[in-house]
Amino acid sequence: MKYAHDYLERMALTDGTPILLRTLYPTDKQNLADGMRELSFLSRYERFFTPKHGLSDSELVFLTEMDEINHYAIGAGLLNPDGSEGKGLGVARFVRDVDDAQIAEPAVTVLDAWQGKGLGKLLLHHVGKAAKERGIEKFRSLFLAENQRIRSLLLRVFPETEFIADGTTTQALSLLV
Ligand SMILES: CC(C)(COP(=O)(O)OP(=O)(O)OC[C@H]1O[C@@H](n2cnc3c(N)ncnc32)[C@H](O)[C@@H]1OP(=O)(O)O)[C@@H](O)C(=O)NCCC(=O)NCCS
Repeated sequence: MKYAHDYLERMALTDGTPILLRTLYPTDKQNLADGMRELSFLSRYERFFTPKHGLSDSELVFLTEMDEINHYAIGAGLLNPDGSEGKGLGVARFVRDVDDAQIAEPAVTVLDAWQGKGLGKLLLHHVGKAAKERGIEKFRSLFLAENQRIRSLLLRVFPETEFIADGTTTQALSLLV
C-alpha cells in the first residue's frame, strides 16, 4: 500500500517550491491549530461553514488521531534545503460513510498565502488515491453553493463529478480515478 502510515513523498508546487506530502500524525495538533489561526475568514468559513475561530481539543483529536482506514489525512509542508520539514501548508482528508463503505467525504484546505500554486490539486489527488487503496470508489462533498474554488478543483481532479444544488449548499459526487 502506497499511502500507509509511513507515506512520505517529495514534490514541488507550480512555482517550484519544494514540498513534502505525508500522513498526518497525532503529533500534528499544534501544526493544525497554527494553520487554523493563519487561515482567512473566507477560507475558514468555506471549510467549516461557520466563521470558526479555533479548533477545540476534541476537534484536534478527531482531526489528527485517525484510524487510517476509514479516516485518513495527508499534510503538506515546506521542504527545507537540508531535507527537513518546514512550515505546514495544507491538509486533505477523507472520512468513510458509515452506511456505504464505498463512499467517503473529502475535505481539503490550503493556507491562503499558498493557494493558487497547485497544492489543493496535489492534496486532493493523493487523498483520492489513498481512498481508492481502501476500497472507496466515490467522494461525496458538501460545500457552500458560492464556493467556486472547490467546485473547479473537484472537476479538475475528478472529471466525472456530478453536482446537485440544494439552496445554499451543493453536493458533489465524484468518481475516483
Ligand atoms: C479550495 C482550495 C483547497 C484550493 O486550493 P489551491 O491550492 O488554491 O488550489 P490549486 O492551486 O491546486 O488549484 C486547483 C484548481 O482549483 C481551481 N481554483 C483554484 N483557485 C481558484 C479560484 N480562486 N477560483 C476558481 N477556481 C479556482 C482551479 O480549477 C484550479 O485548477 P487550475 O489551476 O489547473 O486551473 C483552497 O482555495 C482552500 O483551502 N479553500 C478554503 C477551504 C475550502 O473551501 N475547502 C473546500 C471545502 S472542504
